[in-house]
Amino acid sequence: MSLTNRPDRYGLVSRLLHWTMFLALVYQFVGANIMSRMGQGASVFGMVGDTWYDWHKSIGLVLLLLVVARLIWRRTTPLPEWHPSLTEVERRIAHRVETLLYWLLFALPVTGYLFVMAGGYGVRLFGVTDLPNPIGKQEWVWIVWSLHVLGAYLLLVAIAWHVGLVVRKHGFERTGLADRMLPFRR
Ligand code: HEM
Ligand code: HEM
Repeated sequence: MSLTNRPDRYGLVSRLLHWTMFLALVYQFVGANIMSRMGQGASVFGMVGDTWYDWHKSIGLVLLLLVVARLIWRRTTPLPEWHPSLTEVERRIAHRVETLLYWLLFALPVTGYLFVMAGGYGVRLFGVTDLPNPIGKQEWVWIVWSLHVLGAYLLLVAIAWHVGLVVRKHGFERTGLADRMLPFRR
């Protein structure tokens, strides 16, 4: 498989970025729901609340780096042409949904970061080192918190739409659409 995209399929780097981000996002949603629901002093899978928070924040910041890398990569190597099975309307909607996905993948780490800094909670990167807080406590913390929570659920809707299209085209209509992106498929 080539590193760059081809007119009819995604290359290794695009696939690697797509599926690494997918796994990190699954972790973010599962972890966020665990950490915000566990009681004081409780531990889940051997991790106490603070550790869950540290990892949610740290993986979230890694996701910010990954989305920037992905955007740069999209500009470096042209995307494959649209899959022939997609109608004109489906292409237009898919394009909008992908644009929304990118905006949200950028906005979530940024609002998360602003929230923890403006709230004075800070970030202990992977439980090892505290990042400096360049803004200090702010009264507008509730705005960035609301944007983070709202954005997270909007992201879930956009992902569901995206996956729904792929499952319909690949699974039900048997067009082979996902072969272009699935790992280990040529
Ligand atoms: C793409 C990356 C991210 C995703 C998908 C994500 C997703 C979420 C979700 C789903 C929640 C739970 C919302 C709720 O039901 O209350 C949450 C909460 C939270 N997130 Fe993120 N997040 C991301 C990045 C970050 C980053 C980078 C930080 C901080 C540096 C952060 C800090 C927090 C905190 C502190 C909470 C808890 C809020 C509370 O207790 O009310 N997140 N996040
Ligand atoms: C966290 C969830 C996901 C996000 C954020 C996401 C995002 C994206 C984006 C932005 C693209 C456009 C290409 C690019 O810019 O790299 C894409 C393409 C694609 N995704 Fe996902 N995706 C997710 C989950 C999935 C899942 C679970 C599947 C499989 C069921 C999937 C299958 C595909 C396929 C097959 C394509 C290529 C579509 C085409 O050829 O036009 N994605 N994805």
